[in-house]
Amino acid sequence: MSPTLNSSSPLAPSSLGYRHRHLLGIEGLSAQEIGVLLDLSDGYVALSRSQSKKTALMRGLTVINLFFETSTRTRTSFELAGKRLGADVINMSVSWSSIKKGETLIDTAMTLNAMHPDVLVVRHPDSGAVKLLSEKVNCAVINAGDGSHEHPTQALLDALTIRRRRGSLAGLVVAICGDILHSRVARSNIHLLTTMGATVRVVAPPTLLPAAIELLGAEPFFDMRKALEGCDIVMMLRLQTERMHGSYVPSTREYFRFYGLDRDKLAAAKPDALIMHPGPMNRGIEIDSEVADDIDRSLIRAQVEMGVAVRMACLDMLTRDLRPNDAPRESAPAGGV
Ligand code: NCD
Repeated sequence: MSPTLNSSSPLAPSSLGYRHRHLLGIEGLSAQEIGVLLDLSDGYVALSRSQSKKTALMRGLTVINLFFETSTRTRTSFELAGKRLGADVINMSVSWSSIKKGETLIDTAMTLNAMHPDVLVVRHPDSGAVKLLSEKVNCAVINAGDGSHEHPTQALLDALTIRRRRGSLAGLVVAICGDILHSRVARSNIHLLTTMGATVRVVAPPTLLPAAIELLGAEPFFDMRKALEGCDIVMMLRLQTERMHGSYVPSTREYFRFYGLDRDKLAAAKPDALIMHPGPMNRGIEIDSEVADDIDRSLIRAQVEMGVAVRMACLDMLTRDLRPNDAPRESAPAGGV
């Protein structure tokens, strides 16, 4: 792990212990830094549920969402998060940017940088592209997913969802199931959950489980029922077909039979085990509608709500030293569960 992964600027006094200029990954964040972001997010859940929903904390600041891959939840929630904090938010997607005309990633980044954004939120199909971009611009950068590498805000929102439901992450057994090989959600979640004291199991067919996944601190399984035995949380992942070159599963029907979550396989987990999925869901491939829509056990809708709050907390944290001391900081919500 690179100790500079998220860093490049000194600790700001208002940062509550978050020591980085960017948010490029969960790898390299301490339990305290993760805890601080989750506490701050809790306050933003309350604000988002209130009548007014807005603060002027980021008034005058500009957020650019730069998405080189499709997105529904992540892009929309970053946009909402920026707007609820009072920032000016601009959305750029590759389908109508000059990338289509042959401009390189770095040229696009330099062009946007010249417009003085305060935060760039970037999603890119190549692992490492967001870090590279962060080295070329002089604003804060948030990784909204880079290839199969990291998706830090997804792991934070998953953690917030679990923590609010279970009180703590420490001591829980979490099974992450599906296309681990291509999943940035799996990687970020493994880093976060193990850092916070949870036990992580990963389950996939041998073709979709990276070699040496144990080195990240996750216990590998090929048998879904064995992996789910005694689990508190079952996190399902989509087959990332857009990142697959060739055939990794015999058929989606056979995949569902062995690795799709249904009532029968869920019975191996704890009786009160909760179900998660980052979306988009492919019903009948990795998850059956009966469990996905179980209002007592599925946290899938709650995850979407937590996504806005977590992204507000991240934008707030990364712009603290840009805001003058007399900024309406008191309108920032208090942390705590
Ligand atoms: C995930 C992603 O983009 O990595 N989705 C998301 O951000 N909500 C997972 C996926 O696409 O399967």
